[in-house]
Order: sequence, then C-alpha cells, then structure tokens
Amino acid sequence: EKGDFEHYMLKEIFEQPKTIQDTYRGRIKADQKEIVLGGLLDVFPKIVNANRIIIIGCGTSWHAALVAEYLIEEYARIPVEVEYASEFRYRKPIINPGDVVMAISQSGETADTLAALKMAKAQGALILGICNVVGSSIARETDAGVYTHAGTEIGVASTKAFTAQVTVLTLFAFKLAKERGKISQELYEQLIGEMLAIPDKVQTILLSHPNIKKVAEKYKDAINALYLGRGYLFPVALEGALKLKEISYMHAEGYAAGEMKHGPIALVDDNLPVVVVSAKDSYYEKVVSNIQEVKARKGNVIAVVTEDDNGLRNMANDLFEVPESHPAVAALLAVVPLQLFAYYIAVMRGCNVDQPRNLAKSVTVE
Ligand code: M6R
Repeated sequence: EKGDFEHYMLKEIFEQPKTIQDTYRGRIKADQKEIVLGGLLDVFPKIVNANRIIIIGCGTSWHAALVAEYLIEEYARIPVEVEYASEFRYRKPIINPGDVVMAISQSGETADTLAALKMAKAQGALILGICNVVGSSIARETDAGVYTHAGTEIGVASTKAFTAQVTVLTLFAFKLAKERGKISQELYEQLIGEMLAIPDKVQTILLSHPNIKKVAEKYKDAINALYLGRGYLFPVALEGALKLKEISYMHAEGYAAGEMKHGPIALVDDNLPVVVVSAKDSYYEKVVSNIQEVKARKGNVIAVVTEDDNGLRNMANDLFEVPESHPAVAALLAVVPLQLFAYYIAVMRGCNVDQPRNLAKSVTVE
C-alpha cells in the first residue's frame, strides 16, 4: 500500500530509516560491541581465509558491490573484484580454490546473476548471496548468505534495497576486518556506532525534501546530467545517474571525478548540471578542484555536501546537505538526496516513476 505517498518509489525512499535499521537489527549485538551475521556463521572461517572475493551483480546491485569492494579492501585487506554478472558468466574468468564468489540481488531472480553464480559454483568456489527476496532462486543456489530486510520493493527503481544491501555489506566488511585482526576493537566499535547513527541522519535528509524539490524544478528540462564522486562516493555518483536516467529518461552519466579530465569535461557548458557528491573525507580537496574545473567552464554545480562544509557550499550553484559521518558509511547518506532528486525530476517530466518504460522489476531474461 502506498498510504499517503503518491508513488511507491517515494514511499520506499522515505522508508529507509526503518529499512536500514531492520537490516542491521539483531546483527549488531545489544552491547554494540559486535556484529553477528547468522547466515554466514558456518562459512565465516573460510571467508576470513579467502584469497579473493569476487562480487557480481547487475545495475544498482552492482553499485552496492563497488561500495563493498572499497570497504573490504580498505578495512579487511582481502583483494576484491567486482564484475557485471552478464560479463562474468560469458567470459572465461579464473576461479581458484580459496575464492569466494558473492552475488548481490534484490529480487534474487536476475537471470545473469543466477547463471554467473551457477558457473562459479560448478568451478568450486564458495558461493554467498545478499538477497532481499526470501527463498528466491539466487538465495536457494548459494552456500550461505545474508538477507537484506528492506521489505517488498515495488518501484522499479531500486532505492531502499540499495541502502539495505550497502548496510549488510558494510557490516560484513567491518566483521571481516575484525576477524582478520586488521582493525582494533576500538575502531570496530566506533564503526558500529557510525552505522547505528545512520537512520536518524537519513531522516534528517528526508526532511530536506522541499529544498531538493526546488532544485529539481530548476534542472528538470536539462538534456544531460553528469554525476561525479570519488572513493565511497564514486558508486553513489553512478547510482544517482542510473536513478535519473531510468525514471526521468534524462541522459545522465556517473563518473569517478578524477576521470572527468579524460573526456566528460568536453560536455561541460552552461546547460549542463553537474552533480558533485562530496564529503569531508580524504578526497575533499580533490573534489574542490573538480568543481573549480566545472565552474570555469560555466557548468552548473549541484553539490552534495556535509553540514560542516564551508568550502564547497560557496562554490556550488545548489546544495543538498547531508549530516556528517565517517567516510565508511557516507554512501548510505549521500545517495538519499540523489534518489529524491531523480524522483522529483521524473514526476515533473510526467514520467511513470514506478513503472518506467522498457523496464521490469526483475530481469529474468538474459
Ligand atoms: O534484483 P536485482 O538486484 O538482481 O536487480 C538488478 C538490476 O536489474 C536492478 O538493480 C536495476 O538496475 C534497477 N532497476 C535499478 O534501479
């Protein structure tokens, strides 16, 4: 039921403080000193000793996988590869004993992801799944896994399933880091605390929706949009662009901000909205110079900034403010204004937000 919301997508965006909490509930132990992933208990020793983790998925789930790659490599120090399931299944990838293959899928029915998983299984890898739909084909195929508890997602554009996936993957990365002795108990508890603070912070962002709507009004007739981010916010840039294109049919591209000078900068003119996703992290100064490059070419900068930011806010044309957080959990916040931005633009363009043309909720054909 949509309740008071005009569309399922909007309802699902607004559910996120709850769905994120539902996803970590029972997995962060009451004393907040430990993460327990029940579905992985039996196989965790194998994962701790893995030589490599390969994560596969499609669309938004692939973006969640990219966040996981950065987290696992930074904190747990296991090499990670992320691949589109549609590529992985048809090329001849090398899968060695000691490799762990993890599939991410909201529906658990995506044909490419399922086929890729079966192939990896046949080659002897330990197969894990992060699915939202309980008892789905992918969930049944895996050796072990963790369910996201986002509830049924009806809007074709994935929103709450993405933040639930990132929540599980973040817990997974922190737990793995701790079990491998790569982080101290003190940092572990600090990171857990950062996760527990996310729902309230998402709520704060949701309350700013009138401002996001105003900005959407300004840019709704643009032909193209560019999304830039670095580090944990690079996948967020990709996800923001995917949301916009799939529901509003505005052409949008997400890029690692450092790649801008290798091509996309040629697109910048006074008609181009450039969404720059930033946080006060180690990339901050680099993002500042990316914005200067865009401004010098008269591009319109819409910046996702943290509340403590006072550099970028003076350079951008428009701002989406998000509460401060640790960089390891920042993607969970930065994506929210971009979901709303895409939503409002699509509504203003008269598009069918919940059922965009040519798309299905789960892609069960190859
Ligand atoms: O159900 P899955 O997570 O396997 O679906 C993967 C993609 O089809 C899905 O994320 C798609 O890209 C969404 N429409 C994105 O909003």
